[in-house]
Amino acid sequence: MGSKYVFLVSQIICLWLLAPLTQADQHQRETYIIYMGDRINLDIPAKSLHIEMLSGVLHSVPSHKVSEHLLYTYDNFHGCVALLTENEAKIIAGMDGVVSIFPNEKIYHHTTRSWDFMGFPQTVERSNIESDVIVGVIDTGIWPESQSFRDDGFGPPPTKWKGRCQTSLNFTCNNKIIGAQYFRADGNLSKDEVASPRDTNGHGTHTASTIAGGIVETASFLGLGEGIARGGVPSARIAVYKPCWSDEGCLQADVLAAFDAAISDGVDIISVSLGSRSHAVPYFRDPIAIGAFHAMKKGILTSASAGNKGPGLQTLSNFAPWLLSVGAATMDRKFSTKVQLDNGMVFEGISLNTFDLENKTFPLIYGGDSPDNIFSNSSESRFCKKDSLNKTLVEGKIVVCDILLRHTEDEVFVDGAAGTIMHFVEPHYYDIALSFPLPASYIRADDAARVISYTRNLTSTPFGTIHKSVEVKDTSAPYVASFSSRGPHPFSPHILKPDVIAPGVDILAAWSPVGSVSQVEGDPRSVPYTILSGTSMACPHATAVAAYVKSFHPTWSAAAIRSALMTTALPMSRATNEEAELAYGSGHINPLKAVQPGLVYDAAEGDYVKFLCSQDLDDIDIRLITGDNSTSCHQGIRNTTNNWDLNYPSIALTTSLGPFDTIFTRTVTNVGSSNSTYNVVVTTPQDQALSIKVQPSVLSFKTLGQKLSFTVRVSGSIGIRALMSASLVWDDGHHQVRSPIVVFNLS
Ligand SMILES: *[C@@H]1O[C@H](CO)[C@@H](O)[C@H](O)[C@H]1NC(C)=O
Ligand SMILES: *[C@@H]1O[C@H](CO)[C@@H](O)[C@H](O)[C@H]1NC(C)=O
Ligand SMILES: *[C@@H]1O[C@H](CO)[C@@H](O)[C@H](O)[C@H]1NC(C)=O
Ligand SMILES: *[C@@H]1O[C@H](CO)[C@@H](O)[C@H](O)[C@H]1NC(C)=O
Ligand SMILES: *[C@@H]1O[C@H](CO)[C@@H](O)[C@H](O)[C@H]1NC(C)=O
Ligand SMILES: *[C@@H]1O[C@H](CO)[C@@H](O)[C@H](O)[C@H]1NC(C)=O
Ligand SMILES: *[C@@H]1O[C@H](CO)[C@@H](O)[C@H](O)[C@H]1NC(C)=O
Ligand SMILES: *[C@@H]1O[C@H](CO)[C@@H](O)[C@H](O)[C@H]1NC(C)=O
Ligand SMILES: *[C@@H]1O[C@H](CO)[C@@H](O)[C@H](O)[C@H]1NC(C)=O
Repeated sequence: MGSKYVFLVSQIICLWLLAPLTQADQHQRETYIIYMGDRINLDIPAKSLHIEMLSGVLHSVPSHKVSEHLLYTYDNFHGCVALLTENEAKIIAGMDGVVSIFPNEKIYHHTTRSWDFMGFPQTVERSNIESDVIVGVIDTGIWPESQSFRDDGFGPPPTKWKGRCQTSLNFTCNNKIIGAQYFRADGNLSKDEVASPRDTNGHGTHTASTIAGGIVETASFLGLGEGIARGGVPSARIAVYKPCWSDEGCLQADVLAAFDAAISDGVDIISVSLGSRSHAVPYFRDPIAIGAFHAMKKGILTSASAGNKGPGLQTLSNFAPWLLSVGAATMDRKFSTKVQLDNGMVFEGISLNTFDLENKTFPLIYGGDSPDNIFSNSSESRFCKKDSLNKTLVEGKIVVCDILLRHTEDEVFVDGAAGTIMHFVEPHYYDIALSFPLPASYIRADDAARVISYTRNLTSTPFGTIHKSVEVKDTSAPYVASFSSRGPHPFSPHILKPDVIAPGVDILAAWSPVGSVSQVEGDPRSVPYTILSGTSMACPHATAVAAYVKSFHPTWSAAAIRSALMTTALPMSRATNEEAELAYGSGHINPLKAVQPGLVYDAAEGDYVKFLCSQDLDDIDIRLITGDNSTSCHQGIRNTTNNWDLNYPSIALTTSLGPFDTIFTRTVTNVGSSNSTYNVVVTTPQDQALSIKVQPSVLSFKTLGQKLSFTVRVSGSIGIRALMSASLVWDDGHHQVRSPIVVFNLS
């Protein structure tokens, strides 16, 4: 372990950051995304309109050079990407027809045991058209040679497929990976990147294999998590869209181009485990929300990660009401890494330690006692920050480090050490196992106090070792992972988000052999499978279930598929997550139930438009977005359509201190059996002043596809910083169609 390692604690957990845009020079041109709503008259080539628009603004540019400033013209909506100065961008922002213009910022990418854990065994009933389902994965590309993407037994791509494979160098597609494209508007790739859909990072290979990887009999991460690796829909096809590059993240213009291509190509579901770490931005300034909106119009559901900024409230990303927003849950398998001291004390830690020290012990040293006195003092070296430790002192030793909040970007630096024992100073999250390029374990705060005391004060020759990780059972699973982002929704608190949770902790899936397993540069381990945590890992599980539902119900809308996942989700308990529905939404995905939901809460573009009107979008923007100049948010709509009446499969009410009384309207569509009668079952907490009244309390359906509406009157009284949970279930004896109801006052 003589080599030098620098690792970013934040990068390890949040594969999912946003770099702030550096302040641009007034006159320097930067890339901007200009969004102008729905497709315009198809007779006029959009590109010529875009050039015309730019010509009117780029006065300092000779007219024959204007087109060089147009980097993209999108197809499925009216929009483009252009190089502009800040002033030019301001002029365009004021033009008729422009919904939004925003700088091209970066977003970053945030077993298979998990399927068995949720009661979805390999032998489950499959639709014979599963292989017609195409899942578009927007990520870092794919490693096509992975065992998980073999195409044995696959026929040619479904006839509806219109995409292509950007073969380059030695990248080729097959009948499993039926398409692959990369996106980079500025063409500015770093030296070690190849212009290819090949995944040199690993993240995209991991997410794609979780969704639709084939069955691989024995897979493990260097012995850890050994078992059968498989995706949720092993017969489905994968279409790869790569806007994300190894360590430079993903530019928003490229992410939007990836959506544009996926929509044109005819994918059935889109999966995006990406997001911004900056403040929540309005829907039509967010490329994922814009792309997903136009996908929804074509019946394509977008499944997206909810973010890794938990456990604080209102930390969500990807919260647009036309998205499926997925939080991360734990599984019953944990990885335990014991730390043993020479005095006989043993502490149970957590990490993915694949290194076997064979019980050999090493001298221990506390980071705070080994500062590099030139560049640092002990108040910095205790956190093992970059360049804070004296290399001579730590060489060959196990360094004990205090780690600050994991969301800080402090680099932990263990130069030449034999290993590291770490603990979070506070808060103390202890639910995910991380991988490091040297023997490492995270221990609990009270154990850390004892290790530090032994190391510093109890002996002059402190020695210890770190054992290889072993699997242990966690009987309290599933619960929401600490890092998973929580609601409420930043703009529309009446929309409950995340929608569902799915396994996102310690997930084994395929990896790129050239990607770093620990996200640490210089980690020499090259592996075909690895274990990762994040909402990035939860999202592909929900995507796969959505694809599974789609394979049985190919004509269902995006909202109907999402409804099926939500109303059949396994209810979670507040006992393990105090933020309750704001952490787990409708609950944990339940694939087998999701194909037979009985009733669905459907919604179409018009429903979202009414919702947007209630969000004070003006008529001009609404007309641009819908592409229909007869749409209008006239007073009638504004007054009568409260945003809590979007036909959503869950009910949330934010209210101020004291009494509340609100009526929600919902409509369900019968997709179970033609002749069916559903009775309402309402469960309210006994100790809370909450009353739920449903009218009517019986819904009798005569035909399939029949829609019936009902109202839910939610009334009661709420205290300060309180949250009340209830549920509404429509039950016909076979199907239990459940919607969570949550009332909260967070002020
Ligand atoms: C692809 O080609 C490059 C350059 O020739 C080579 O380094 C790499 O190993 C090849 N990868 C695979 C998977 O064949
Ligand atoms: C290209 O990328 C390099 C390094 O990533 C950066 O320094 C440079 O400014 C970029 N050039 C342009 C034109 O964006
Ligand atoms: C390490 O110790 C454990 C028990 O203390 C023992 O079972 C194991 O065989 C030892 N390993 C080696 C390589 O000595
Ligand atoms: C590092 O530690 C060694 C050994 O104690 C010492 O000789 C050296 O001066 C230290 N270097 C710095 C920069 O503190
Ligand atoms: C340690 O260094 C930091 C940063 O340089 C400084 O703020 C702090 O006062 C120093 N502490 C001591 C005890 O010298
Ligand atoms: C433990 O040792 C450290 C460094 O040797 C010293 O600063 C500290 O005061 C000691 N603590 C106790 C409780 O003796
Ligand atoms: C929509 O806009 C077009 C072009 O501006 C116009 O010709 C047409 O009459 C408008 N239609 C309605 C219903 O306002
Ligand atoms: C809608 O609300 C506005 C302002 O609150 C009011 O003036 C108007 O009469 C209302 N219109 C209807 C149809 O209720
Ligand atoms: C529906 O139920 C009614 C009353 O239970 C029964 O008379 C009728 O035959 C049923 N229709 C179908 C299509 O099952």
